[in-house]
Amino acid sequence: MFSIFRKKITKNEIIENLGFVDLHSHLIPNIDDGAKNLKQSIELIKSLKEIGYKKLITTPHIMIDAYPNSELDITTKLLNLKLNLAKENIAITIEAAAEYYIDEGFLEHLYNKPLLINSEYLLFETSYMSKPMNLEDQIHEINAKGYKPLFAHPERYRYIKDFDKEYYRFKELGVYFQLDLNSIGGFYGKDAHKKATYLVDKGLVDFIGSDTHNKKHINNLLESLNESNFWYKLFKKNKILNKNLL
Ligand SMILES: [Fe+2]
Repeated sequence: MFSIFRKKITKNEIIENLGFVDLHSHLIPNIDDGAKNLKQSIELIKSLKEIGYKKLITTPHIMIDAYPNSELDITTKLLNLKLNLAKENIAITIEAAAEYYIDEGFLEHLYNKPLLINSEYLLFETSYMSKPMNLEDQIHEINAKGYKPLFAHPERYRYIKDFDKEYYRFKELGVYFQLDLNSIGGFYGKDAHKKATYLVDKGLVDFIGSDTHNKKHINNLLESLNESNFWYKLFKKNKILNKNLL
């Protein structure tokens, strides 16, 4: 068990404190910029299992220009992946939701049975560089449908400049935050690391996701798990909800 009296926290304790659940990844083959084929997909899933995850909620991109996936595409390809995992005797729970990009196609998905995490959270992302003009309206729409808006990697958006004002505004709108595990080790640069530190210090983080796309992410993830002091602070100051998803 994680103890508040120790500052050292092991990799196993970290995964245990995440409820052995990852809720953000791109593991379905040939559907987005994640696993390119079944072989890569199986390698990534095996690696995550070795790290200690028991459940993976994978979240292919839905983006009108680059990845115009439908919910049916995702569930069909997930089923195929599960059959192949069974053939290879890889025992792990795998489910799929989606990572919805806020664009002109988003509302159509929202109104037509979107894929949710744990039947409640809608994972969304935006452009990294510019904040969509109608973002607040879209968040209101998500809330109005009775879903919980979950912002993917809020530390990675360059357009967020005034941390106190902007991050707290999202919280006023009922937005949950999913920090990217790989931002902890600095994989996404200084700006993302600085914002991750801010969010952790303020106790604003709700979930941790790996956003695994490829082997590079796995290697970095293993390094991030060594950031013992950061993790200690994270679990002490934030109520991490991953374990509710097991
Ligand atoms: Fe992602």
